[in-house]
Amino acid sequence: MRAPRIVLVGAGKPEDFTVGRARTVAGTAVRFLRRRQVRRAAIWLHSGLDPLPQAAAIIEGATLAQFDTGVYKTHDDRPADLDQLVVVEPDPAREEGARAGADRGRVLGEATNLARRLANEPANRLGPVELASAAQQLAGNFGLECDVLDERRIAELGMGAIVGVAQGSDRPPRVIVLRYRTESSVPPIGLVGKAVMFDSGGISIKPAEHMHEMKMDMSGGAAVLGAMQAIAQLKPRVEVIGVIAATENLISGHAMRPGDVIATLSGKTVEVLNTDAEGRLILADAITYARRLGAERLVDIATLTGAIVVALGHAATGVFGRPHDWVELVRRAAEVAGERTWLMPLFDEYREQLRSGIADIANVGGRPGGAGVGATFLAEFVEPGMPWAHLDIAGTAWTEKDLPYLAKGPTGVGVRTLAHFAFQAAAVTADERR
Ligand code: BES
Ligand code: MN
Ligand code: ZN
Repeated sequence: MRAPRIVLVGAGKPEDFTVGRARTVAGTAVRFLRRRQVRRAAIWLHSGLDPLPQAAAIIEGATLAQFDTGVYKTHDDRPADLDQLVVVEPDPAREEGARAGADRGRVLGEATNLARRLANEPANRLGPVELASAAQQLAGNFGLECDVLDERRIAELGMGAIVGVAQGSDRPPRVIVLRYRTESSVPPIGLVGKAVMFDSGGISIKPAEHMHEMKMDMSGGAAVLGAMQAIAQLKPRVEVIGVIAATENLISGHAMRPGDVIATLSGKTVEVLNTDAEGRLILADAITYARRLGAERLVDIATLTGAIVVALGHAATGVFGRPHDWVELVRRAAEVAGERTWLMPLFDEYREQLRSGIADIANVGGRPGGAGVGATFLAEFVEPGMPWAHLDIAGTAWTEKDLPYLAKGPTGVGVRTLAHFAFQAAAVTADERR
């Protein structure tokens, strides 16, 4: 070998070497190399694994390892980027697979880093209007359709929930629609994201200690943006409509009060008992709108509840929904993506907790089963019979410690799950039709 230096990375037992392990190993190696200012490296593919998914995982892990959070540091002590990573596949019969895999890994890694970059931005630098600009730019670069609803259109359409949450802020809300069109005989899917650019809690204000972390309350919306970027490049045979509700949840003389009743786009009325349960409100309108735009099958993604962190910690994304097959399709996509999920229940009891004396439904239902109560609220805005899954990423969108291939900070969770999921949704229905 002509390499001047060789890095040996412990990868565990040979029989445990999987595609997921390849992602971790590559990411760990790249993070190590960057700290040493190394600019070029090559990595040898393992002959015992399929070259395509293996190369994809390696380049994905390496790309994720390039991200860091210190973008506003003025003294430059940040680790250098790796300029070049060569994937070596000595077997000519496997070369094409390795090449295709590397391309896919780069697309998915970069899309995830886009979501991380957005989630890392502080709220003073990234509000609803700026997020909409980022979406428009993405659409222009990657050939997606983009429609941005401003505050006037949001109000005219009757999105009373988004208007209610946004009214405490001087910065207006936006509803961002990104559409990927293709030749397809299967029903369009809708990806709906919560983008609360900052969540102070509103009049039901949050304690000061962790409040600054709530700049990441737009991670669901960022994941939809990232997924749409990947989908535009990887081109699954299914139409995908991304809908992102972008707003702040702030406090002022205009702010929504606990006890206020709002009318949602669906026509249902909501008693807002707690202004800090704002994500479910804006998602209610976004879900209804996605349906109106033609989505026949839905996945929403949101940093929705602290209760999911109590239930699962930071170890997994909570997944809710119906019917079971649809939910499992999402979970399988997450597994392929290397993102852990856990199936959560939608018990009938949760609906009772949301009874209101004045309106159709209340927006909170007490502490017990809080994540399921939040999901149940959303379910009220999904037509019966419509496949729907809800990903609660409140515990997984941000990591407080460095992981093997993810620096501490925003994780971009959901981007790769949703991108893989589009392919699953394209394939399964086509199978069923046969
Ligand atoms: N954005 C928060 C949820 C959250 C918590 C995200 C921790 C990330 C980390 C959400 O809007 C919220 O405030 N939820 C309330 C709901 C409650 C009032 C029913 C919560 O979890 O306390
Ligand atoms: Mn909140
Ligand atoms: Zn929130």
